[in-house]
Amino acid sequence: MFTTDPFLSASVGGTPLVRLEEVVPDGCGTVWLKVESGNPTGSYKDRMAVAVLGRALERGEVKPGDRVVEFTAGSTGTALAFVAPRLGLSFTAVSSDAFSEEKLRSMRAYGAELIIEASEDGAITPELVGRMKNRAQKLAAEEGTFYVDQFGSPDVLIGYEPMGAEIADQTGGAVDLICAGVGTGGALMGAVNGLDAKGVRPVVVALEPAQSPLLTTGVGGPHRVEGIGVGFEPPFLDRTRCTDIRTVDEALAIEMCRRLAAEEGLLCGISTGLNVCAAIELAAELGKGSSVVTLACDSGLKYLSGGLFDRS
Ligand SMILES: Cc1ncc(COP(=O)(O)O)c(C=O)c1O
Repeated sequence: MFTTDPFLSASVGGTPLVRLEEVVPDGCGTVWLKVESGNPTGSYKDRMAVAVLGRALERGEVKPGDRVVEFTAGSTGTALAFVAPRLGLSFTAVSSDAFSEEKLRSMRAYGAELIIEASEDGAITPELVGRMKNRAQKLAAEEGTFYVDQFGSPDVLIGYEPMGAEIADQTGGAVDLICAGVGTGGALMGAVNGLDAKGVRPVVVALEPAQSPLLTTGVGGPHRVEGIGVGFEPPFLDRTRCTDIRTVDEALAIEMCRRLAAEEGLLCGISTGLNVCAAIELAAELGKGSSVVTLACDSGLKYLSGGLFDRS
């Protein structure tokens, strides 16, 4: 859609919407999961990488041979590392050892250059994210370099609109509520825009880790839910379109990842576990007959070495 590259247009998007069965208690509404791990790098970030780079090339803001730069927890970076070379671009990622080894290795495997900022004991903190951002912005000032600006580019939101349109089609428009954890807020708000464009207007609930309740209390903190809870207001989060913002304990999110894998056959990352915990809570509140949608942001394969699925 955003590119003429045949592999990208055939493989990114068009993901399944799966009804959760075993993990949803009786008496709840239906919980649907948009399983984005089916994208080529196992994450919904492929959608935004294709949209941002495809549209920038179309507008002539970047040209083949240029270097693309971004700071990233690894999912965005892996998506950009995959998409950039297919469009004739190179990619440099500013990342950290706080993020999963699989993600760092995936970026390298796709040929990206990696710059690593050291974390304190593997914790994701606002200070670390700020340091990564500064480093990326310095590189972005160099000649022949295109800064993706995942926290600012309107193309990020546009990239996720087809995800919302797909959800509208897959549910026949029956969506009472959509909830998801927010990093940039791009996936949730982009999907909501895509739903809106199809005339589907669900209640919108944004989520964050209980260990870093910045949006709900004003105070962030260290946590281990990669990709969300970035320590500042998510730029794409439209609070006027959200009915509520809720927190979920990261320990419950991890436990849900294990249940999703073992009971539903869905191997997902921690932010997905967090999304499903909240979706079930909200579907219990809305009750039988209601329909709640949430997002499976990425694949659990990215977290195997971090011990996400290891039971003691
Ligand atoms: C694994 C994971 N989950 C959730 C998110 C949040 O997505 P968004 O930035 O679109 O809000 C990200 C973003 O990096 C992510 O990598």
